[in-house]
Amino acid sequence: VLLTILDEDLDSYLTRTRERVEAGLESSLELVANAPARLQEAMRYSLLAPGKRLRPLLVLMSAEACGGTVGGAMPAACAVEMVHAYSLIHDDLPAMDNDDLRRGLPTCHRRFDEATAILAGDALLTLAFEVLAEHYSPITAAACCRELARSAGACGMVGGQIEDLASESGRTDKAPVSRPNGELLTLENIHARKTGALFRAALRLGAWAAQGEKAGGPEPELFTALDEYGRCFGQAFQITDDLLDVEGHAEQTGKRVQKDASRGKLTYPGLVGPSASRALASQLCEEARSALRSLGRAAERLAALTELMVERNR
Ligand code: IPE
Ligand code: IPE
Ligand code: MG
Ligand code: MG
Ligand code: MG
Repeated sequence: VLLTILDEDLDSYLTRTRERVEAGLESSLELVANAPARLQEAMRYSLLAPGKRLRPLLVLMSAEACGGTVGGAMPAACAVEMVHAYSLIHDDLPAMDNDDLRRGLPTCHRRFDEATAILAGDALLTLAFEVLAEHYSPITAAACCRELARSAGACGMVGGQIEDLASESGRTDKAPVSRPNGELLTLENIHARKTGALFRAALRLGAWAAQGEKAGGPEPELFTALDEYGRCFGQAFQITDDLLDVEGHAEQTGKRVQKDASRGKLTYPGLVGPSASRALASQLCEEARSALRSLGRAAERLAALTELMVERNR
């Protein structure tokens, strides 16, 4: 059965599984059915907007690679997408990147207002943890909450976001950043936090959803492989995001382009140029794939995803 499943081509697997993610997101919003209408509307607007759903897909593919099922990992997949959607709403706010277009639609604060956008973000972030607590047994829920909180918090995504802002030239509210090891290493660290941490959490939650009930939890070797894959995947993903800002088109990416340079953001294309950035991204994909070797055929889809991720145009 496993072989037959793996023989399905990646595109059709992704289409089919994305549809299940959309349904999962829709049903997880039932938990806030009694919330104030405008807040619900803003949460739905941003969460259900047409994103690529890469993080939930990683949760599900990781769970499958660890012997679990899509159904069993769906709450974890939805939780990670909620944290991601919150991070996008806040990232777009005037005090941060000040963007007006997201996923091909007006950003949340443009469509509603700033206060509603801030609160919709807060509500999606907290809902993520409610979903985990609601759907998993205490040990698995606690482990998933810990991973997700760590990756989204001050040492992860939020920490990376403040460093990203601090790296902008000419910001008057610059937080102090020490750069003892040069700008490339600084940039690698910013990416690891602001983007990499959530990818790593996605993969780890997949492992917990699949093997959380085993005595002692998932095998440590799984985490070693998934963490290394996530590190490389996350770096390559953000390099590609930065390249799309330089070379992409808003009609395809669904967000404004050519904004990073004008804001003076620290990016790979800005530091080493587009072609060296592309070379680095494909080298990182190779490293991501080799990190999965110990997992064998079960991780083939995760391995194949790296190429699609760097070749994307949105
Ligand atoms: C965009 O993430 C934000 C970054 C971390 C660079 P995605 O490119 O995955 O955005 P969606 O979810 O498809 O909209
Ligand atoms: C955002 O990075 C990372 C987040 C944690 C949301 P960017 O600021 O480069 O993402 P886009 O380009 O606005 O999607
Ligand atoms: Mg940003
Ligand atoms: Mg941004
Ligand atoms: Mg960007």
